[in-house]
Amino acid sequence: MFEVRPARDQDEYGRALYGVAQYFGAAPNEEQLERFSKLLPLERMHAAFEGGEIVGGAGSFPFDLSVPGGTLPCAGVTVVGVYPTHRRRGALRALMDAQLRDLHERGEPIAALWASEETIYGRFGYGLAAWAGQVRIKREWNAYARPLERRGRARFVTPEEARTLFPPVWEAALRERPGLFRRTPAWWELRRLRLPDEEKANPKRFVVLELDGSVLAYAIYRQFPNFEDGVSNARLEVLEAIGATPQATAEIWRFLLDIDWYATLEASLLPVDHPLFLLLATPRRMKFRVGDSLWVRLVDVGAALSGRQYASDGSIVIDVHDAVCPWNEGRWKLDGGKASRTDDDAELALGVDALGSAYLGAVSFSELWNAGRVEELAEGAIRRADALFCWRPLPWCPEIF
Ligand SMILES: CC(C)(COP(=O)(O)OP(=O)(O)OC[C@H]1O[C@@H](n2cnc3c(N)ncnc32)[C@H](O)[C@@H]1OP(=O)(O)O)[C@@H](O)C(=O)NCCC(=O)NCCS
Repeated sequence: MFEVRPARDQDEYGRALYGVAQYFGAAPNEEQLERFSKLLPLERMHAAFEGGEIVGGAGSFPFDLSVPGGTLPCAGVTVVGVYPTHRRRGALRALMDAQLRDLHERGEPIAALWASEETIYGRFGYGLAAWAGQVRIKREWNAYARPLERRGRARFVTPEEARTLFPPVWEAALRERPGLFRRTPAWWELRRLRLPDEEKANPKRFVVLELDGSVLAYAIYRQFPNFEDGVSNARLEVLEAIGATPQATAEIWRFLLDIDWYATLEASLLPVDHPLFLLLATPRRMKFRVGDSLWVRLVDVGAALSGRQYASDGSIVIDVHDAVCPWNEGRWKLDGGKASRTDDDAELALGVDALGSAYLGAVSFSELWNAGRVEELAEGAIRRADALFCWRPLPWCPEIF
């Protein structure tokens, strides 16, 4: 049996973090631990003990996540790992149980994560809740379908300038779409704008696009020059390109696509409704490859359902099955945008993981039904649920955490 509790000091914190860190190679050094603890406080790092020894850990960032029509406190679950000496003996299950109970007590209605493997988290009530794609655009296929009138001006900025210029653009994206988490100044500095020694040869470049007197877009990218037979075979890696308006997004991407020398522009973590599909003349040539992105867990079904907005009026009664968080189990009535307990007959029945999939709007109830993940108990209930939960634009989480 494993005992699980939050780390009590820096040493326990480090050993819990080593649960996952060892799979990446070296253990984090003092400086890395110090940095990480600025983002993930001690009390949010759970450690699993056996016989007094730490054998695994699981942490959660204190996020505000954009959900349809607003933001909600959200646990950004991360650094989950169990020592290989203790695998498949229930340590992860003990960690997940303790973490979810803790989040419930803290009043954080949702949790979200990026999964190292798709097979791990469904059993703990997480549902695949967003898609992301990566592209590889060859220089010769970078033209837009329609001429773009460029009204903005791009310029390089230092990391210090970026600290104040980037966040308002990010906030605009966060207001526009579900799936983004609010970045604190420490997050910007440590996770996005830092220039680590190991990237010295190909440092991040920071660019803003000024339009109508304001910074309305930014990009972070790296260049990897290479010449073969005298011809450039360089790679341009776009780490993040965000616009606050459609014009600004189109212009910052035009800026990136026009940079000299690259043979292939690579970007990942793009939403499947990215404007590039319609901006580019040859979207097929982007070679867009889709994978799963955020997984969402409704920690408190009532608060989570009441905390987002809906695309239409109407009501629905949902019977939720949740074996891990029994406080969610049973029938919930969603009416006028608020969810409450009910004795009314259920119209839909589904697992809390399937509800997590539908929560941000990326997966419809029809899709869940096609996959046998929801039961329709009243005629037309799937259609009604789709009309309520559907949301555009689709969720987008531009950063793995
Ligand atoms: C993934 C990991 C945390 C699992 O820890 P663990 O202590 O071995 O898991 P548990 O013994 O508690 O397993 C709980 C359940 O999950 C299943 N499971 C665990 N890891 C799994 C995996 N990678 N794929 C499929 N199923 C898995 C177990 O079979 C068990 O199923 P059951 O409840 O039906 O019996 C561990 O293998 C690990 O640290 N992996 C490398 C790092 C990693 O991928 N971390 C996740 C980062 S998102």
